[in-house]
Amino acid sequence: MAAASSYLFFFLSFSLLFSSTLSACEFRVGGLKGWRKPTGDELENYNHWATKNRFHIGDSLYFKYENDSVLVVDKNAYKECDTTAPLLKFVGGNTTFTFDRHDYFYFISGEPGNCKAGERLIIRVMVHWEVVIPGDAPSPQPGHSGGSISSAAVGFAASFKNTVFMAALGSAFSISQFV
Ligand SMILES: *[C@@H]1O[C@H](CO)[C@@H](O)[C@H](O)[C@H]1NC(C)=O
Ligand SMILES: *[C@@H]1O[C@H](CO)[C@@H](O)[C@H](O)[C@H]1NC(C)=O
Repeated sequence: MAAASSYLFFFLSFSLLFSSTLSACEFRVGGLKGWRKPTGDELENYNHWATKNRFHIGDSLYFKYENDSVLVVDKNAYKECDTTAPLLKFVGGNTTFTFDRHDYFYFISGEPGNCKAGERLIIRVMVHWEVVIPGDAPSPQPGHSGGSISSAAVGFAASFKNTVFMAALGSAFSISQFV
């Protein structure tokens, strides 16, 4: 049993090390249209798009925008569309934000009225060893609201390799409960 446990420990450490480098994806927010105030003819809003993707530590969001900004805010500021005290503020039109921890990340536009019109996004960064069953539904996210944004060609889903890897990791965890 001790041997089995240390094998598992080794396997998990080894795999986690590699998974964080192998699986990093860049997701383009809003697809080709980028980060902007919704005009009302979009097929889905930013949060709907987000629920269809899985985000992990090391993945990043790419925001492309004009005459606009990207604010990283807390949950309350997100709810209130409060642009006055962001945790981080990006301007310049090209912003890449990389996830460094498991958490919820809240993004809103810094332009007056844009957040209320739906230019806001919640991202849940998941733990790496969460088992992914291909095709299963992502969990719903809080604060889902606002306008909508089309998102053709938005980033990549987890690669097949990564999915298989996580499934293997999942089984390792279930085995470990019986060791
Ligand atoms: C941004 O602002 C400039 C100057 O006011 C304007 O010419 C341009 O059309 C604006 N771009 C967008 C996408 O609204
Ligand atoms: C964004 O980055 C791309 C590639 O680095 C560059 O070509 C483009 O001019 C940049 N746009 C802005 C608004 O800075």
